[in-house]
Amino acid sequence: MTLRTIVCAALAAAVLATVPLAGSAHAQQASKRVEDLLARMTLEEKIGQLNLVSGHHAVTGPYTRSDVRSAILKGEAGGLFNVYGAAYTRGLQEIATTQTRLGIPLLLGFDVLHGYRTIFPVPLAQAATFDMAAIEQAERIAAAEAAAAGVNWIFAPMLDHSRDPRWGRVVESFGESAWLGARIGEARVRGLQGRSLKSPDSVAACAKHFAGNGATEGGREYSGGDVSVRAMRDQQLPPFKAAVDAGARCVMAAFNAVDGIPGVANDTLLRDILRREWGFKGVVVSDFGAIEELIVHGVAENPADAGRQALRAGTDIDMESRTFVTQLATLVREGKVLASELDDAVRRILVLKEELGLFDDPYARSSPEREAATVGRPDHFQAARAMAEKSMVLLKNDRNTLPFSTKLQRVAVIGPLADGKADTLGPWAANGNPEDATTLLAGVRRVVGDTAEVLYASGGTIDRTSPADIAAAVKLAARAEAVILALGERSTMSGESASRASLDLPGDQLALARAVIALGKPTAVVLFNGRPLTIEDLDREAPAILEAWFPGSEGGLAAARILFGLAEPQGRLPMTFPRSVGQIPIYHDERPTGRPAGPQPKPYTTGYQDVGPTPLYPFGHGLTYTTFFMGTPRLDRPAIAGGETATVSVDVMNTGARTGTAHVQLYIRHRLARVSRPVKELRGFARITLPPGGVGVVKMPIGEAELAFWQPEGRMAPPSSGKIDVMAGPDSATLKSIILEYRPAGPARQASNTGG
Ligand code: GLC
Repeated sequence: MTLRTIVCAALAAAVLATVPLAGSAHAQQASKRVEDLLARMTLEEKIGQLNLVSGHHAVTGPYTRSDVRSAILKGEAGGLFNVYGAAYTRGLQEIATTQTRLGIPLLLGFDVLHGYRTIFPVPLAQAATFDMAAIEQAERIAAAEAAAAGVNWIFAPMLDHSRDPRWGRVVESFGESAWLGARIGEARVRGLQGRSLKSPDSVAACAKHFAGNGATEGGREYSGGDVSVRAMRDQQLPPFKAAVDAGARCVMAAFNAVDGIPGVANDTLLRDILRREWGFKGVVVSDFGAIEELIVHGVAENPADAGRQALRAGTDIDMESRTFVTQLATLVREGKVLASELDDAVRRILVLKEELGLFDDPYARSSPEREAATVGRPDHFQAARAMAEKSMVLLKNDRNTLPFSTKLQRVAVIGPLADGKADTLGPWAANGNPEDATTLLAGVRRVVGDTAEVLYASGGTIDRTSPADIAAAVKLAARAEAVILALGERSTMSGESASRASLDLPGDQLALARAVIALGKPTAVVLFNGRPLTIEDLDREAPAILEAWFPGSEGGLAAARILFGLAEPQGRLPMTFPRSVGQIPIYHDERPTGRPAGPQPKPYTTGYQDVGPTPLYPFGHGLTYTTFFMGTPRLDRPAIAGGETATVSVDVMNTGARTGTAHVQLYIRHRLARVSRPVKELRGFARITLPPGGVGVVKMPIGEAELAFWQPEGRMAPPSSGKIDVMAGPDSATLKSIILEYRPAGPARQASNTGG
């Protein structure tokens, strides 16, 4: 049974060329203002609202076809993207509202994935904080800065679930846990849209890329691997459902095909699930050029066919392919697209513009005064630094190499990532200015520069380290009391169109590291990267490794503060680090198979002959500068029935010599179900900061929402009954367990369709 079959079986008869698709039954009567406006619009004016044109402040696709001013004047732009700046956007809104017949203001979209001008750590790094409040605050700041520059629509959150770090866009994602992704999706939507969409510091959020875009084949960009119904329902869809439930006003249809049908033409996804099952009433925008690409996919014969399929499937806005604006008038006149379907799309766009307050004041977000007062504010930079400190993951710290003493007299900072401003910001850095970035070298100088001599050598480049580079680096390191090695990827090695077949450190960085580490000095590696890397050799030789990701504007200072103990490493891995690229996909919530791997390779069990079954670092891994004891989880009740919630308590003690923050993670396993369930699934997390010797307890709920999964009969619900392993610990590989009984609810309850 395919996804399409399950959802559409009862409706196949309705999807006839001359019958409005069932989704249009959702056409909501809008406000009088919107309905009056719609009634006055010509066919061409309606179609113009469906066209989204790229400006020139960023290049995010293979082409830019239109001049934005002429597109507006010709009535061929309901919105623009890749434009920002209060004065510039004010001018664009002025053209739209004073130089066109109906004066309809513009949607102005931009990819603000981790900050507008104040750049926060990349989304994968933010996921490593496991701190939803911090993530929401970061989005609040990003929205306020972008809105102050005239942007009213942000193409975020990116909610693609992926288990393949070869894919460059894992940097934009929440990692491998769909449940964590759902929590992050709702936090980001709340942060971006704020309390009121009309507020000039709020923007419309756009959850992307719907759906299955992260299930790549081989980690190759745009490949769109085959996704089973279960994988779709249990992994790909829940983050989007959470974003829609949090009120996201837009969803971006993905490039990839699901069940053979590309996102923009996939009426199963767009109409049956998104609109009918989830009740989504917002706007669906295509990804860049995706409507025209239906032809390349081989599912549309020509632009007219592509435009017809996309509109009928539920795509409202055409990003940059110009298919709607060139084809829809004829399609409507020929009756191949119903006028009512076009009106539904236009109505949804006008409703969004009204919700954003654009009809009341199209200039509210284009105030140069507010822009100057908001963008890049010092407190925003402080928030970015705090987030960066929370995102960094201490992967290894043998012999308590870290933290270094602030009393050191001479420190060497070596490596091609030590002073990379753009590489500190990372990909998708919006209007971030690399000159604003505090690099690791600058951060170390700020932290200890007054008391220590800070030596620096680049050790060559990311791609090439010559023997002379290595010799110079070793010579410099030999003079130091401690050495910091800054290694990793270039920011352009992550993000869109940045898949890598190898996850090794690029270039000769390992050779550089080996030569420096061989000196035997206290040495810490700081990694700057946008994905899990295969660094088993480095792990074998480096005494300490700090994962800094692409940490944003204040990332270098955050890393330096952690290295010298002024801040503690609090991050935990949101994605498994494989030992070898050959192990991919390797992740925490795997299913057992009938012959699960043991701790060591064994014949007739799953795994490889040449690599063990475990990752280098497991999901949830992260060390601190102290140590903690975490007790066996306790339950406030041995069993729950439908609708009830149990509380899981875990005792924590700081058994080390420094104050620290413990992350307790909660996992479950359905011991017995009608379908084979993962051996563990993240379903909760809690933090507690304790002084040396301090004890405390963290509590986390377990109820239907945590126990639900896609049931064979096609609904998101807990099993009717069963035993649940409830596991808790500092990471996914170090867990203690207790059993929770799940019993049927009282009188037969119709489980609500709560899930993806
Ligand atoms: C790109 C990306 C998408 C982005 C869009 C607009 O192709 O896939 O994430 O929002 O174009 O820039």
